[in-house]
Amino acid sequence: MQYRFPDNFWWGSASSAPQMEGAAARGGKSANIFDHWFAIAPERFHGGIGPTDTSTFYDHFESDIALLKQLGHNSFRTSISWSRLIPDGTGEINPEAVAFYNAVFDRLLAEGITPLINLYHFDMPMCMQERGGWESREVVAAYIHYASHCFALFGDRIKHWFTFNEPIVPVECGYLGHHHYPCVVDFGRAVTVAYHTALAHAGAVQAYRARQEDGEIGIILNLTPTYPRSQEPADLLASRRADLLLNKSFLDPALKGCYDPELIALLEQYDLLPQVAEGDKALLAAGKVDLLGINYYQPRRVKAKDEPWSGTPRTPEDLFDYYEMPGRKMNPHRGWEIYEKGIYDILTDLRVNYGNLPCYISENGMGVEGEERFIGPQGRVEDDYRIDFIRGHLEWLHRALEEGSACRGYHLWTFIDNWSWLNAYKNRYGLVRLDLETQQRTIKKSGHWFADVARNHGFN
Ligand code: GAL
Repeated sequence: MQYRFPDNFWWGSASSAPQMEGAAARGGKSANIFDHWFAIAPERFHGGIGPTDTSTFYDHFESDIALLKQLGHNSFRTSISWSRLIPDGTGEINPEAVAFYNAVFDRLLAEGITPLINLYHFDMPMCMQERGGWESREVVAAYIHYASHCFALFGDRIKHWFTFNEPIVPVECGYLGHHHYPCVVDFGRAVTVAYHTALAHAGAVQAYRARQEDGEIGIILNLTPTYPRSQEPADLLASRRADLLLNKSFLDPALKGCYDPELIALLEQYDLLPQVAEGDKALLAAGKVDLLGINYYQPRRVKAKDEPWSGTPRTPEDLFDYYEMPGRKMNPHRGWEIYEKGIYDILTDLRVNYGNLPCYISENGMGVEGEERFIGPQGRVEDDYRIDFIRGHLEWLHRALEEGSACRGYHLWTFIDNWSWLNAYKNRYGLVRLDLETQQRTIKKSGHWFADVARNHGFN
């Protein structure tokens, strides 16, 4: 069977400023929450490796962009670091940051690689966290101000913008799960953080539209499809609640400009609604996107709790349990389920229930622990498992396209092994191996395969 994709399909990969640039304390950048957290609690980070140097793109962007070209990329997504561009969060623009981003964007364009640029990838400037982070409306205003500067500085060349990457993750990890700074566990505060993030998103969309540029703006969401254990009412309810809290909480405002009434009712039932100000409703309505990025790694399988929770839930997981489906296919090197059809289910849901807005797969990928085991005699990683993973997902994506999905592209996480938050370099995701000692880059088998697929617009 031949899998052919449209000629203008986006082939590429994604990364982010905090995970790739390095130079965390150079070039005029101030600390973000990860820099700060690493300084005070390095033992929380795998191998004691923090965000200080990550994969040194700040110093090697020219040769890294040449590598992207070799990997067949026609597009690449990364982010701008707020704490690099505006070190005190709200005031002066840092000229070194402007020079760096100009050089990166110009180089990408010169190589024929379309830059897709995200404004926020979990990396709150520490000075803004000290002012309340996403719990504060002042920080929402500061973010919109920062976004407006980005549009003004780079909008002549950047035509595809994203306000946030996976905005539910800082909510879950920072305010429900103790995996991101500020390590709070409080459902009510988490709801406020999510709500303010949605307002910040809408404010940035509104600011972009006011400029009447010839580009488009979107958001990147980790849409984890939710599958109930059974069709029993209790399992269906558990699954619905997980979906409302963890998918629809950002999907509906971004695509429909308002919240699902069922989500509002659920939060109201537990007295968890955030404070709403005059004008919020109109602002959210203005936040409808032109384009959606979808990050998909694994499904969320859900069952009812054995003992139904009584009282106010402390976290979403008090309302449902995770379910391990017998016989599920696993990535044995990372502990995540592999379910290729999930990509098709997401795209079908968007086509049928959300008006088939233009979208693309903005992240998909396979983390592998101990990947040096697979280095072959020629010195490269022989990662056939990653090729199988990508191919399996592309086959389902292709089917969604045949059925009319408006999916415009596929980006892998990520082009070069990079730093992943608390896991640091434990799980490798790249098409290119990074040697941490020497910073040497070596294309893996999957990188050569991916380049062929991109150049041939598909595979057999
Ligand atoms: C995503 C996230 C990325 C990257 C990836 C792989 O959720 O957007 O920043 O860390 O997971 O772990």
